[in-house]
Amino acid sequence: MTQDGFRAEDIDTSRPHPARIYDYLLGGKDNYEVDQEAAERLEAAAPEVRPGLRANRAFLQRAVRYVVDSGVRQLLDIGTGLPTSPNVHEIARAAAPDVRVAYVDNDPIVAAHAGALLSASGTNSVVLADLRDPRGVVEHPDIRRIIDFDRPVALLLVAILHFLTDADEPERVVATLRDALPAGSYLVLSHATGDFADRSEAQAVYQRATASLNLRTRAQVERLFDGFELVEPGLAQVPYWRPDTPPPPGSELIGFYAGVARKTG
Ligand SMILES: C[S@@+](CC[C@H](N)C(=O)[O-])C[C@H]1O[C@@H](n2cnc3c(N)ncnc32)[C@H](O)[C@@H]1O
Repeated sequence: MTQDGFRAEDIDTSRPHPARIYDYLLGGKDNYEVDQEAAERLEAAAPEVRPGLRANRAFLQRAVRYVVDSGVRQLLDIGTGLPTSPNVHEIARAAAPDVRVAYVDNDPIVAAHAGALLSASGTNSVVLADLRDPRGVVEHPDIRRIIDFDRPVALLLVAILHFLTDADEPERVVATLRDALPAGSYLVLSHATGDFADRSEAQAVYQRATASLNLRTRAQVERLFDGFELVEPGLAQVPYWRPDTPPPPGSELIGFYAGVARKTG
């Protein structure tokens, strides 16, 4: 065990990892040389990647405020990523101090760093689990300690589902989670796409990484919302989802769809 509480052999520093590439591109320090090199190749292949990730993070903030303002007090954030200020519970608690947050990630480094930073208050939990086993997530005792599945939950799947291959059946995964949620719950989702520019070179960067990048079309992303009703403005590129200020020039190239939807039935 390292002092962060994970086993050193669990950390693969020989291959780039999505969480650490993302951390590097957002200006964080929790990344290694392999991640920095991959991030730089990614930027060369897709120059809008850095503003795109910032816009994704800004969408996350607006969407969290939206669901909390709509009355939800429990958030299940799957694919948390390395801590990035402001973190989800900080955004949510600025709007309502009684919000409870369960964080899930399958990266032991994320779970350890996030665990140290985010679970101090007792109203958050950080769980090492895999989205590809959605039942395992909703049945996890540390999640059940925080989340009451009889009351509305906001399920956050932000910039994670593109790390699931078609063989992982992302639609089935989301449907399993949806079925565990009561009416009045929300789905907050963003997903990478190649609809606005050719992103095959960006995809190639992830071929050596611990997870592949699976770009999906608008129609494929819309299907992930089955059983939910999208709130206005529907599925949009991240900068255009209820922007606080007009999106800057170049936003039209950003390859991330975003949507927030409510479970009605
Ligand atoms: C790009 S980061 C997104 C972080 C945050 N949601 C955001 O949008 O700012 C994706 C995160 O998903 C995690 N992840 C990827 N595949 C996963 C899986 N199958 N189960 C759980 N977490 C996963 C990665 O470890 C990484 O931390």
